[in-house]
Amino acid sequence: MGKSQKTLWGGRFSASLTTETIAFTHSIEADTRLIGYDIWGSQAHAIMLARQGIISDADLREILRWLRKAEEDFQNGDFTLDPNKEDVHMNVESYLIENAGREFGGKLHTARSRNDQVLVDAHLYIRDEILNVQRGLSALCDAFLQIAKEHADTVMPGYTHTQHAQPISLGFWATAYVSMFLRDQKRLQSAYTLANMNPLGACALAGTTFPIDRGLTTELLGFDAPHEHALDIISSRDFIAEILFALSLVMANLSRISEEIVYWTTYEFGIAVLDDAYSFGSSIMPQKKNPDIAELTRGRTGRVYGALLDLLTNLKGLPMGYNRDFQEDKPPLWEAFDVVKACLGMLSELLKTADFKTERMAELANANFATATELANYLVKEHQISFRECHEIVGWLVGELVQREKTFTDWDLTQNLLKQRDIDIPIEELKQILDAELAIRNNQSLGGTSPAEVNRMIGSFEEKLVKIEKQVQTCQTQIQAAYQYTYQVTEQVLTGQSVHTIRI
Ligand code: ARG
Repeated sequence: MGKSQKTLWGGRFSASLTTETIAFTHSIEADTRLIGYDIWGSQAHAIMLARQGIISDADLREILRWLRKAEEDFQNGDFTLDPNKEDVHMNVESYLIENAGREFGGKLHTARSRNDQVLVDAHLYIRDEILNVQRGLSALCDAFLQIAKEHADTVMPGYTHTQHAQPISLGFWATAYVSMFLRDQKRLQSAYTLANMNPLGACALAGTTFPIDRGLTTELLGFDAPHEHALDIISSRDFIAEILFALSLVMANLSRISEEIVYWTTYEFGIAVLDDAYSFGSSIMPQKKNPDIAELTRGRTGRVYGALLDLLTNLKGLPMGYNRDFQEDKPPLWEAFDVVKACLGMLSELLKTADFKTERMAELANANFATATELANYLVKEHQISFRECHEIVGWLVGELVQREKTFTDWDLTQNLLKQRDIDIPIEELKQILDAELAIRNNQSLGGTSPAEVNRMIGSFEEKLVKIEKQVQTCQTQIQAAYQYTYQVTEQVLTGQSVHTIRI
């Protein structure tokens, strides 16, 4: 077994870790995304330590100087994480110690533990990613609203049990997805609020004897408030579970759209055609045009569900305090963010460029007795018969027509059959009652498929989306302002000012 160099925590150990142990335990791949956040968290921590008189102005200056250099080196690709140093936190601290010397760099970890540090990094990263997903969702909603605006009165069949049910409009279908995604937005917003609490200062699990100021790091990092209970926050990953649940439901919805795209583009359905830029061919069958993006989205849903199950299983039975099991929370969460963002981006484009075959939709909506309910409703209104009886009459009519392999549009037959039940409707009127387009126009109940309602809902959803956009923007501004604030304080310290004279 190979031997490695000594670790920063190696004081009590007489032997170094084997290379195999390091390979088994390090978290470098997942942690690489956290470098910038780890540096920001360390800047805030160091500023607070100096402000509280726990380290000196001179200590702070050296620490901030080298943290800034670490950031620059990272941006230029000159600072990459070394697996021998276990994780991002040890890498950044080692960088500091190697460059600033132990007398300065060695002070950064005063009144801090990797246990609160890893939470800070994760919270900061997650905030950004939630906002990215929210933007992706809004773009997808825009794509659906575009379809809805163009097709508020385009009839298509509505389904229950994947069988013709009642006619709806394509715009109604599109707004249904917007309505769903607005709930996803809410869930993400609430996950954001949960994540926007400051863990820094919880230290290993018990707080600290140093006179730290958790309010100051909260401001420097743009959190809403300190997470109050040290042991609770160190022991908890439910904020990650909330996000993974929200992301899982986003994927459930994306997978359902994907399923519809898959069969809408079949020859049998023929109600949508995808743009060539978003379709795939076959290596053997020259005629093929496949909806691979939708299939891959549907297929990747399990990865996000898997991430949620992975985390829930991880948390089950863990005792209070930090457990190394927590390290495993990151790779699945990172993957879930990546999958969701990619799927959102692709589906938005695919939908914006899809061609909906409205004639075929109308043909299907008028076929297969899809307007039978309208006839029953007509009988209730015009013949004062109870709905249950009307249902029976129209059911009987459909049965008779099916037996003869006919449809409503065999008008004479339809009319004559109804006469057998003492109902006399002129053919012209029958045509109106059973017309899919008129049927949707008349479904004017609140939230129904009528163009009037669809247009009203488009307006109301647009307003909600504007509000969400504003919220996302407010969160983004809060993050940027805090980053700027930390940057400016750093700048002032680096130009020779004492942290005690800077207005904070
Ligand atoms: N890499 C660790 C994680 O992701 C960081 C915290 C390590 N803390 C510790 N006490 N070993 O959870």
